[in-house]
Amino acid sequence: MAVTGARTAAIIGGGVIGGGWAARFALMGWNVRIHDTDPDAARKIGAVIKRARAAMPGLWDVALPDEGKVSFHDDLAETVSGAEWIQESVPERLDLKHEIYAAIQAACTETAIIGSSTSGFRPSELSEGAARPGQIIVAHPFNPVYLLPLVEIVTGPGTGDARIERIRTTLRDIGSHPLFLRREIDAHIADRLLEAVWREALWLVSDGVADTAEIDDAIRYGFGLRWAQMGLFETYRIAGGEAGMRQFLTQFGPALKWPWSKLTDVPDLTDELVETIASQSEAQSGAYSIADLERIRDANLVSILRGLKARDWGAGRLLNAADRRVGGAPKGLDAMSLTGPLPTGARAVPLDWSDHNGHMTEHRYLQAFGDATDRFLALIGCDADYIARGQSFFTAETHIRHLSEVRAGARITLDTQLLLAEGRRVRIFHRMWADSRLVATAEHMLVHVDLESRRAAAPPPDLRDRLARIAKAHAHLPQPEGAGPRSDDRSRAKARRRRTSRSRAIFRAGCPPPWCLERTASDGPGRDRPDAPAPRAAPAA
Ligand SMILES: NC(=O)c1ccc[n+]([C@@H]2O[C@H](COP(=O)([O-])OP(=O)(O)OC[C@H]3O[C@@H](n4cnc5c(N)ncnc54)[C@H](O)[C@@H]3O)[C@@H](O)[C@H]2O)c1
Repeated sequence: MAVTGARTAAIIGGGVIGGGWAARFALMGWNVRIHDTDPDAARKIGAVIKRARAAMPGLWDVALPDEGKVSFHDDLAETVSGAEWIQESVPERLDLKHEIYAAIQAACTETAIIGSSTSGFRPSELSEGAARPGQIIVAHPFNPVYLLPLVEIVTGPGTGDARIERIRTTLRDIGSHPLFLRREIDAHIADRLLEAVWREALWLVSDGVADTAEIDDAIRYGFGLRWAQMGLFETYRIAGGEAGMRQFLTQFGPALKWPWSKLTDVPDLTDELVETIASQSEAQSGAYSIADLERIRDANLVSILRGLKARDWGAGRLLNAADRRVGGAPKGLDAMSLTGPLPTGARAVPLDWSDHNGHMTEHRYLQAFGDATDRFLALIGCDADYIARGQSFFTAETHIRHLSEVRAGARITLDTQLLLAEGRRVRIFHRMWADSRLVATAEHMLVHVDLESRRAAAPPPDLRDRLARIAKAHAHLPQPEGAGPRSDDRSRAKARRRRTSRSRAIFRAGCPPPWCLERTASDGPGRDRPDAPAPRAAPAA
């Protein structure tokens, strides 16, 4: 049964590219109908969607919508009927594509967008003889479609502004980046560039200058890394030194006239050259199956993309913007019920958070709990602006329990119970859930600090008030299983420890700074050792 209220996409041709489109739409909450003449299509697409489930949702730092329903249809008309977006991804043959558009347009709504994944045809060629030419556009994605954001869009004169706007918003809604071409051209932008490199690479093999592995090394150890984060022009701007692009063009411009390149020529793909390339490729990568390589590629891409996300640069900046669109504005404390633990996180486990055991690795639990702490602190008013004004919380103590496994792609939610808000100290207890399974808990002791003096300091009244509101409501909640002793038990134990071994506790090496944990509002000023270090832990927010 379709997910009620979900939007519907139709995929015509579910091979390498159509399968990737199906996965992206479905994981962004769309119901997806697929029509493919291959009787084995469901198995093949199932494998793509499974891989995408592990890789794609974890690119986001917020929870994606519930996955849409994927269904397979023998009848093309049934597949496209009522669909909002129809993506054609059949083999690159113009006659076949024309046949498919005729069948699609006979059954789809006039408002539906018909995108073609074509690598090279222009919209004017695709729409020859079509009933409604403006409805057919090029929407050229990159493999794997569920991870790479770029979709080149080529429209025709009949596309119309309203449809162009819907193309833009729809692709953004599914986390893609539409790059609109200014005019149609064979093979669009990216494939023109790729073809240039591809031709040179074939010549280098054909001329016996390099084998396939050496050419791949020349790309992946060098300029390929630069391209992934800055592209071509921004990279060359830097290469020009302080004088930038003008200097670069002056310095390297003349070389363009030298006969370095064989771009205008294509080597004959003789049996001998095909055999050379195929056997070199086998020697280079034959130890891996295609499925192995796809998994390795996905994991590498996720790491690169998440790395760029942390840097808020290139494709990472797109992903951060997509997070803001999908996640929306976070709820404030006043809009929340305080009668239970507060929701402080919902996301999927990223592929690069899993370890050799195939499940989420230890330090990523701390990352997820740290993010939940940040969210809790933002709720009480300790957000980026507050920290910029000179006060924050430092984490002084953490206790994590790992209760059950979670794998890459699994959706986790986190909630937070306030156990103590006393003077400068706040004790919180996070629970991490996968569906209804409790998979981990974390208890943190936080200390409010003045960032100028790096010392514990009382929080301001508004922050104390918010903490008090939550504390009052959470006082009715049962003490969570696995939490440390309650505050009154702690106070008694603390008093006992003070009487017996105060100095030893203070100077014991390697423990959380006792001055920090033991000081309360009632301690009054002047109880810190003058040279007391700031808490060792990183700022909580
Ligand atoms: N492979 C890539 O890297 C790549 C990248 C971007 C764009 N493209 C473009 O995407 C399109 C598809 O390429 P692909 O690599 O996915 O090819 P593919 O061969 O992997 O998939 C094509 C699919 O279409 C199905 N099909 C064939 N005839 C059909 C019909 N009459 N009705 C329904 N389904 C039919 C096939 O069974 C197959 O599953 C091409 O236009 C190609 O240029 C490919």
